[in-house]
Amino acid sequence: MERVEEIAVTQWVRLCGVAEAPAVGQVMEAEANGVAICLANVNGELSALDNWCPHRRGPLGQGWVEGESVVCPWHSWVFHAKTGVAEYPENERVEVFPLKVEGEDVLVEVAEAPVAAEATGAGEESSSEPAGE
Ligand code: FES
Repeated sequence: MERVEEIAVTQWVRLCGVAEAPAVGQVMEAEANGVAICLANVNGELSALDNWCPHRRGPLGQGWVEGESVVCPWHSWVFHAKTGVAEYPENERVEVFPLKVEGEDVLVEVAEAPVAAEATGAGEESSSEPAGE
């Protein structure tokens, strides 16, 4: 029996400058604390989605905006920019990160960088590939 205790520690991290953010109807790829983000501008409102499509890990930040959704560039799955819920197939979704604009910065709330992972032996679920040990 495996006991999994996950403490979700998050922090607000600068994703990019407001001036670098995509224009209305555009998406871009960005990164915060090692988390790949698809930053989308839907009708003038920014959304930060997990960049990796749950289908085959297509880069949503290289896709496009359609209506209120982001379309994956690989096989055209469609995710609502605010909820992350897929139009099709029904039970799929991507994470949507809290986002705010402060001054000239676009900030997202993501998990804190896994500093203590080595000490606990955790970190297998990290989204970034370890460099090898
Ligand atoms: S990888 Fe996104 S739809 Fe296939």
